Amino acid sequence: MGVMTDGRGRRRAERLVGAAAWPRSGKEGTPREHRGTPTGGDGKRSVSLFRRIFLLNAVGLTVATALLLGPVTVSTPVLPGEALVVLAGLAVMLVVNAVVLWIGLAPLQRLGRAMATADLLHPGARAVVTGPAEMADLISTYNTMLDRLETERATSAARALSAQERERHRVSQELHDEVGQTLTAVLLQLRRVADRAPEGLRAEVRQAQEATRGSLDEIRRIARRLRPGVLEELGLLSALRALTTEFTAHGLSVRHHFDGELPQLSEETELVVYRVAQEGLTNTARHAGADRAELRLHRVADGVELLVRDNGTGAGRAPEGAGIRGMRERALLIGAGLAVEPGPDRGTDIRLRITSTTSTTSTTSVMNATSTGDRSGPRTGTPPHGAR
Ligand SMILES: Nc1ncnc2c1ncn2[C@@H]1O[C@H](COP(=O)(O)OP(=O)(O)OP(=O)(O)O)[C@@H](O)[C@H]1O
Ligand SMILES: [Mg+2]
Repeated sequence: MGVMTDGRGRRRAERLVGAAAWPRSGKEGTPREHRGTPTGGDGKRSVSLFRRIFLLNAVGLTVATALLLGPVTVSTPVLPGEALVVLAGLAVMLVVNAVVLWIGLAPLQRLGRAMATADLLHPGARAVVTGPAEMADLISTYNTMLDRLETERATSAARALSAQERERHRVSQELHDEVGQTLTAVLLQLRRVADRAPEGLRAEVRQAQEATRGSLDEIRRIARRLRPGVLEELGLLSALRALTTEFTAHGLSVRHHFDGELPQLSEETELVVYRVAQEGLTNTARHAGADRAELRLHRVADGVELLVRDNGTGAGRAPEGAGIRGMRERALLIGAGLAVEPGPDRGTDIRLRITSTTSTTSTTSVMNATSTGDRSGPRTGTPPHGAR
């Protein structure tokens, strides 16, 4: 946690071991650049691993032959002085061998660490292409594989989220249209029965009426949560206000602060902001043990930031679950940055940073499909938030 990522592959915090060896851009070192002309990280042509090991062995054998032919002789049985010379020579050769192998295999170790710490939800980190030709090729191939995996992950995440939104929409509509209508009909019937029921039964019928009314409210509430209709009808700020009201209960007080003049956000971005706020507040209510939380949407230098802050126990080192991973996925889809970090005093801060380019770009046609599917008709000319 505490890591800011964004969809263009930049990282605000280095988490990888040996991070200094990692370039920020994900574009260095593709096999196309290296195949045929393998180079080290400094751009120099590198010697192949085969040639290195061969040269090393050649040097060792040459030295051994030189010793055999040279002035040094070994008697039988070996004299102590001769044994010392032979052992010293062996020690020197072993040390040289170890150093050369260490240097030669270092890129492989770095690659191992890179593989162990690779995280597709923090994209963009790539291994520096160094070392002998075969290793440079291997690292390049690994980097290309990461490119492909990140693209595929982004596409499948977009599809999954889109399917999830569509399903929520369908369930919400069925709850509203089917169960909601049925319960409304039952409520009306109960009212008629209550009017005509004998005095002894009337209290029980009224109780049944109350229970039905409670269920109807609950179903409406679930349907609203599944599909933020208010987002479509009244806009993001009203939807966020409704969220704060919904979560203000059971000893938790949620306040909201929205800047007056906020830039216009695309439909996809609004949906992401809403879902991140919703999951953030759900986590506050479920895990934080907080009595205060706030929801802020404010202008920052390069765009807009959503902040969900609570004064609870803090997430500590708790592993990220589907909720936080889902927030990261959504943020990545619109090229925004998401950070989950400790609050200024205690508690948890969730920051969704949307840059001006992010906010206006429609990044995935899949999410587009969701949005249009969610809406009764095309929305034209969404007014600026400040005007809502
Ligand atoms: N505001 C918070 N305060 C304290 N702990 C938190 C907070 N938000 C998250 N956590 C911790 O981080 C963990 C992961 O949260 P995450 O939302 O990913 O999963 P979850 O809430 O456990 O399950 P779900 O998939 O239903 O969201 C939580 O189990 C909790 O321990
Ligand atoms: Mg959660």
